[in-house]
This record gives sequence, structure tokens and C-alpha cells, in this order.
Amino acid sequence: MKEIKIESTLYVYNTVKDLPSDVQDLMNNAHQARDKAYAPYSKFNVGAALLLDNGEVVIGSNQENASYPSGLCAERTAIYYKGAKYPEAKILKMAITASSQINKTTEPIPPCGACRQAIVEYEINQKSPIEIYFMGETGKVVKSNSLKNLLPLVFDKSVL
Ligand code: THU
Repeated sequence: MKEIKIESTLYVYNTVKDLPSDVQDLMNNAHQARDKAYAPYSKFNVGAALLLDNGEVVIGSNQENASYPSGLCAERTAIYYKGAKYPEAKILKMAITASSQINKTTEPIPPCGACRQAIVEYEINQKSPIEIYFMGETGKVVKSNSLKNLLPLVFDKSVL
């Protein structure tokens, strides 16, 4: 029997104001997307914004449905929009923000497992890491230098 230890390094910023200015701008785009989310069922709004290497910013928000599983998270809405509109572009940075319509989210909200799986496929295909920044409505921001830090033991096309 052999023990395997898995380690990830994440960086915590106390406030959005401590981020580099391009990331603050990106997070602002994510906030704007979040505030237009369609989340009448969970009342939990999520926004995502991607900065591409062609200078474009692509956004997404969660889109819910009366048939609950038909809804989609903000991160996948954004990443699939990018795949459809700018298939050749690389994603440099991704900002994610969440706010509840019921109570204030002050803790950073990480992307769900399904979104991590979707994002990592783009990261692998583009052969360069995506910086991920995530936060709640206010407060701390967590940065990961690559999606892979959030998804150890990744399942990808290399195993098929
Ligand atoms: N949601 C996201 O948009 N991203 C995540 O990573 C986690 C969850 C959405 C899905 C649903 O509309 C609501 O948040 C509550 O789960």
C-alpha cells in the first residue's frame, strides 16, 4: 500500500480591491452578469466572466428551469458561449461571483464539480492554464493558478 498526498495551492485576497486592476474589471463583469441571472427557484445568482487572449470578455449567468435539471450553471454558460463564439481563443482568466437573494454570501463560492470538469477540458485543449478567481457577494476572493488545482485526479480524454 502506498499513500498518495494531493496538495493544491490557492491564494486568498482580503477584498476585491487587492486584485490586479484587470481582474477587478473582470470581476465587475461577473457581478453584472450575476445580477441578471435567471434564478427564480434557488434564488442563488451566479455570474462568470472570461478574459480571452483576443481581448474579448465573455460572460455567463446561471439559467434555471421549471424542470430543475434542465438549468445550467453560470460557469458552463460562459465557457460554452466562449466555445461557440470564439473557438480559437484561449481563456486567460475566469472570475466567478455568487449572491443569494435570501442572505448575504460573504464566503468565496467555488465552482461546482460539474463546472470544474467542463472548464478543465478547455484548459487541457488550449494547453495553457486558466487563472480562476471566485468570491461571494462581498469579502474574500480566492485565486487558483489553474483549474487543475481544484480538480485533482482529473478524468479527461486521455483515458478514453
Ligand atoms: N450554480 C452555478 O451557477 N454555479 C456553480 O458552480 C454552482 C451552482 C447555480 C446552479 C443553480 O442555478 C444555483 O446556482 C443553485 O445551485
